[in-house]
Amino acid sequence: MMKKETLKISIIFISLVTMLTSCNNDPNSPGYEFMPNMYRSPSLETYGINNVFKDSLNARQPVKGTIPRGFVPFEYGKSTEEYLRAGVELKNPFESNDENLAKGKKLYGMFCAHCHGEKGDGAGSITHPVYGAIPAYADELMIRRTGKTMKELKAGNIYHAIYYGLNAMGPHNSQVNDEERWLITTYVQELQKGNN
Ligand code: HEC
Repeated sequence: MMKKETLKISIIFISLVTMLTSCNNDPNSPGYEFMPNMYRSPSLETYGINNVFKDSLNARQPVKGTIPRGFVPFEYGKSTEEYLRAGVELKNPFESNDENLAKGKKLYGMFCAHCHGEKGDGAGSITHPVYGAIPAYADELMIRRTGKTMKELKAGNIYHAIYYGLNAMGPHNSQVNDEERWLITTYVQELQKGNN
């Protein structure tokens, strides 16, 4: 018996509270806020002071080992030994077909032709003496770092040269990405044949 009474009283009480809280004279009032924290969360600025982190003045650092989207790490160092190792170990992942050659040619035109020439003969439009000794890709005389000629450079050597540069030739690891470097390599390999 006692339990039923309590239940009745509770229901009446809850109804009353609900009625009271839902009735409000101000038409603009959002009504009673049961959890104001959820409506009014503190807004924190990225570089602003906050009480969440100890070094509260800094934006969050990326997790250790984070790499930029699309970034492909290059496992070879800058040295000649690494250059030679790249020449032996790396294979060009791109097939030498019309589509890839067209893509490679376009990139080559943007990043290499002004020094190396459209045909890869070393006669680009830049005539500054600093870039005087630009080798032709199909050259069969001058001995390079590999102990062989330009014509015999392997895909990995060319890729390494694009990545790190060589003397007067600057590195191209930030201007073009991994895929673009291989596409350029594909085109340079075509120019090595000296058919153009
Ligand atoms: C600012 C002018 C310049 C630009 C731009 C340039 N090169 Fe070179 N490149 C040179 C010079 C100069 C050399 C010769 C360096 C030496 O032997 O000291 C060279 C050498 C090379 C070699 C031979 C490296 C070796 O291992 O012997 C290759 C391959 C090559 N360049 C490819 C490219 C490609 C591909 C591009 C475009 C992504 C490019 N270069 C952009 C000036 C340039």
